[in-house]
Amino acid sequence: MINSKLPSIWYGGDYNPDQWPEQIWQEDMRLFKEAGINVVTLPVFSWAKLQPSEDVYSLEWLDKLLDLIADNGIYACLATSTAAQPAWMSRQYEDMLPVDVDGRKRTHGSRTNFCPNSKSYRRLSRQLARKLAERYKEHPALLIWHINNEYGTHCYCGNCAAAFRVWLQGKYGTIKQLNAEWNMSFWGHTVYEWEEVVPPSNLNGDNRNFQPMALDYKRFMSDSILACYQGEYDELKAITPGIPITTNIWGLFNGLDLKKWGDAMDVVSWDSYPQMNEPMGNVAMRHDNMRGLKDGKPFMLMEQTPSQQNWQPYNSLKRPGVMRLWSYQAVAHGADTVMFFQLRRSFGACEKYHGAVIEHVGHENTRVFRECAQLGRELGALGDRLLDSVIDADVALLFDIDTWNAVEMTSGPSVDLNYLEQAQQYYKAFYDYKVPVDVISPLSDFSKYRIVIAPVLYMLKPGVAERIEAFVKNGGTFVTTFFSGIVNENDIVTLGGYPGKLRELLGVWVEEIDSLTPDMRNSVEIGDGFGHVRGSYECGLLCDLIHLEGAQALGAYGSDFYAGMPALTVNRYGEGEAYYVATAPEQRLLNDLIRTLCEKRDIKAPFSAAEGVELAQRSKDGAIYHFVLNHNGFKAEVELGEDVYLDLLANEIVTSTVELEPYGVMILQKQRK
Ligand code: GLA
Ligand code: ZN
Repeated sequence: MINSKLPSIWYGGDYNPDQWPEQIWQEDMRLFKEAGINVVTLPVFSWAKLQPSEDVYSLEWLDKLLDLIADNGIYACLATSTAAQPAWMSRQYEDMLPVDVDGRKRTHGSRTNFCPNSKSYRRLSRQLARKLAERYKEHPALLIWHINNEYGTHCYCGNCAAAFRVWLQGKYGTIKQLNAEWNMSFWGHTVYEWEEVVPPSNLNGDNRNFQPMALDYKRFMSDSILACYQGEYDELKAITPGIPITTNIWGLFNGLDLKKWGDAMDVVSWDSYPQMNEPMGNVAMRHDNMRGLKDGKPFMLMEQTPSQQNWQPYNSLKRPGVMRLWSYQAVAHGADTVMFFQLRRSFGACEKYHGAVIEHVGHENTRVFRECAQLGRELGALGDRLLDSVIDADVALLFDIDTWNAVEMTSGPSVDLNYLEQAQQYYKAFYDYKVPVDVISPLSDFSKYRIVIAPVLYMLKPGVAERIEAFVKNGGTFVTTFFSGIVNENDIVTLGGYPGKLRELLGVWVEEIDSLTPDMRNSVEIGDGFGHVRGSYECGLLCDLIHLEGAQALGAYGSDFYAGMPALTVNRYGEGEAYYVATAPEQRLLNDLIRTLCEKRDIKAPFSAAEGVELAQRSKDGAIYHFVLNHNGFKAEVELGEDVYLDLLANEIVTSTVELEPYGVMILQKQRK
């Protein structure tokens, strides 16, 4: 349990009472209780109010608030408020404001607008965290610490440059080693003194010209920001060792090395803001990625909107039922909390059109409030039965931030190659087949899975190829694609033929990589057919021209000068099989392939359900909780077979064919016959 003080699914969210007169606070309490809210996140952006000047802290208003919420039986996700420093601080400490990649020194304002290597920022943020911990360590409302908010601003200032050189010395030891690892003889960039290392920036042309350096700078920035987090973490832990600590991640974001961040948190939390028309598989994948950051442990849904955003181009309302549906989707993928931004809609500045549990009208007679209150009652009734339950997946998708960054920064072979999109397409194939997937780092242990899939495994970090080989040798099914095994962790090509260290395992040699313009198409022709993979499929983007070195061709290109060359292969290796998809085919091929491989490995969905109905499971103490989520705006069926289930939400017994309401949800538990 994240904190046994509150043994149910935490329900609540960001609350900014310091933007409101005190008379409103009492009314807020009434409404929160009415909505079943049991946790409020505060104060997220109140540093200026908490510390009006360097020597003066003003915490009395927060004392009052915390007492008020505790008196009302509500807990605090207590934020350290360090995401937006006060104006006096930016003014007094010249090193605090960051410099962006174009070399512009920022002015005061906005948020996460600080240099992570600013000594004054580090000192003052730690100091505030300590003050809050000392003051509230015994407070009955204190449930969890929430450090900062959506960290992620990278800085290119002189202090950061100096700290980068120190970081590099720690990593490479000697300047000679650095020159070698970064291949600095390219364009005559050899350096002789550490001081000659100039961080990548658009001031020196294009910050992506030297990918080894640019990648290291990103890693260094992630570490620098993590050091800010860690500074606050250490202060809080020293004073309140029993209280869990988190910081809310901005979803699938490549500005931080999220795996490292997962390790540094007691519980992972994140903010989920899908577009209304976004494929639901993408959202499911983001949840799975968050769960993967802490090896499958439950995470917190820290923020979602009850109704609409303000910052997307078109901020559609969540249709009736959709907020509830998406909340359960998060829980289905491992969230033990359902929390919102924001509880009361602010009335000035850029978030005044962002949805909230309490709208501008100020009372509870709104559609959104009613839906929130209904969900609050349901979550309350579920009690603690789902907490700490886990997801048992037989499939792992390897996803890596460094690979994402490297693919994004690399010049060629195609501007249209998007690492995240490729991963999403393979994820979708499993999502459509309705089986769970763990999204994990290639550095995590994947030996327990039956299928491991690594779309565009462009970068092979030390040890990964060897572990994939061992996995396949022991009977695993491995799938990878074009543009894999090409470079090492510094984006330096592994010589001797692509896909480098995966060549023997896959039994293929990639001689050339063709890049297709958006209007160009080729096809993958499946000769004799392979399970559900048969006939002709379109492909595009990149086409590897490969030679078989032990692998068997399952399909070949249909046109161009490489017509007839293999486009889909399998290599038997030890007890297992390694598949290579040499191009980017239409989704249909991926779905047919994944279905075939799952059937081969005896992986199947528990029920058969209509298109658009998502299935997910969590289990605990021998009980399996089946989530059935209808993402359609119309009724849809699920076929449960002969077993008898209890729907925990409706408290009804169901069996055989069940019809779900539009956006309807069931959580089913099998009953003894
Ligand atoms: C982010 C932030 C919140 C708020 C929301 C709005 O997730 O953490 O403070 O700005 O976006 O969607
Ligand atoms: Zn800086």
